[in-house]
Amino acid sequence: MPADSKFRIVGIAGSLRRASFNRSLLNAAVELSPAQLAIAILEIGTLPFYNQDVEDERVPDTVATLRQAVRDADAILIATPEYNYGVPGVLKNAIDWLSRPPRQSALNRRPVAIMGASAGMTGTARAQMQLRQAFVFTNSYVMCQPEVLVSHARDKFDGAGHLTDEPTRQFLARFLNEFASWISRVSA
Ligand code: FNR
Repeated sequence: MPADSKFRIVGIAGSLRRASFNRSLLNAAVELSPAQLAIAILEIGTLPFYNQDVEDERVPDTVATLRQAVRDADAILIATPEYNYGVPGVLKNAIDWLSRPPRQSALNRRPVAIMGASAGMTGTARAQMQLRQAFVFTNSYVMCQPEVLVSHARDKFDGAGHLTDEPTRQFLARFLNEFASWISRVSA
């Protein structure tokens, strides 16, 4: 990568909630991103439910736009909540649309980093493991470490959704630096 250029990252939040901690975490990643990364947040809330009949007939415009944005990017950064020990449907739906056709999809060989925030104590650990499993099928290059598991999120964001917890901010900055290195390595 030339010294003055940046990796283009698409950021996806797996929650549609207005005051989403995961959306706030993604915003914090934008704020704390190192010089090598340019993160643009994509919306997934208007995608239809995945239906192969619909796809075979005509790929919906919202899906085509999402797929192109991911193809144009160098990597993906996901902030996922945990719903019932797993990945929220809205995020899984976006991944299902992005995953087609297999082996030629926008996710194929795409570097990915995962983070998550929850109000509870496990910080989306189970959802993240499920997400990693899905990315095996899509042949995406998910960064293993560090893992961003933001637990007790109510204590770490203020009322406006700003990440205020200093250790978490520092950890997130380190994670993003590692992500930049990871993209360099796996994209070579
Ligand atoms: C939850 N929540 C939750 N938390 C957790 O740690 N493990 C879980 O399995 C679940 N399950 C779950 C299911 C459903 C349907 C909801 C709505 C919530 C709580 C969840 O972590 C919390 O609502 C987060 O704030 C959701 O993320 P956002 O929307 O703040 O990004």
